[in-house]
Amino acid sequence: MKGNKKTISSFQKTIWDFFEKEGRQTLTWRKTKNPYRIWVSEIMLQQTQVSRVVEKYKSFLKKFPTIQSLAESSQANVLKEWVGLGYNRRALFLKKGAEFVVKEFQGKIPKDVSLLEKIPGIGHYTARAIATFAYNQKHVFVETNIRTVYFNHFFKNTEIVSDREILDMVEQTLPEENFREWYWALMDYGSYLKKQGKGMNTRSRHYVKQSRFEGSDRQIRSAVVRYLTQKGEADVDDVVRGLGFDIDRTEEQIQKLLDEEMVFLEDGVLSLG
Ligand code: ADE
Repeated sequence: MKGNKKTISSFQKTIWDFFEKEGRQTLTWRKTKNPYRIWVSEIMLQQTQVSRVVEKYKSFLKKFPTIQSLAESSQANVLKEWVGLGYNRRALFLKKGAEFVVKEFQGKIPKDVSLLEKIPGIGHYTARAIATFAYNQKHVFVETNIRTVYFNHFFKNTEIVSDREILDMVEQTLPEENFREWYWALMDYGSYLKKQGKGMNTRSRHYVKQSRFEGSDRQIRSAVVRYLTQKGEADVDDVVRGLGFDIDRTEEQIQKLLDEEMVFLEDGVLSLG
């Protein structure tokens, strides 16, 4: 789709006006340009609501104030800090990523997105979000709130829309400067539209529904990790029987956690390593 000049400038005005009135400029991670802190926030904000991230972000950075401190800490301590946020694998990726940066980039997070993408756990979106929010670089990217904005403004009557088409419009509507604020504004406006019942991301080709937690494998996995952060270590049979889930399913999830090196087993004793 080719947007004309007038449509584009009126869209930009809508976004900037909204940001001026309703923007969440006070969010903690928007007050820093430190790429490590922004990285942590972006990983936490994937799949977790802003309100739940705020406190965890602060306590995590208190415990791991630098990339070195995260790289050097034990996996068990990182998981301990992460409990409550869910999707624990994100925490391990963050730690592995920190180790990688220390080893490969002398502890300095690179500015170039192609180098950022070499870091384990950093993909297309996260690399560009870090480069934009830390360095105010010009990039084209989408995440769920941004998709909502473009759906509502440019694809109202389109059945299925791919990210390619959205990215094309993101590029056409990008302002000349203030990329950091522009993307904050898009995210805030998208979040507002969703609250208004105008989220329409189910029509995205890239839409992934967040699965139910209750009764899911994720719930079992999360219970195992939580149990181990509390006990330190435990007899594997006690964990399997003690959590109160279906025994076969619990064993299966413990096996997966072992395969992923999220937990460790030695002499029948399960631990976070
Ligand atoms: N500010 C910067 N990154 C953000 C994100 N992913 N979600 C909400 N606000 C943000």
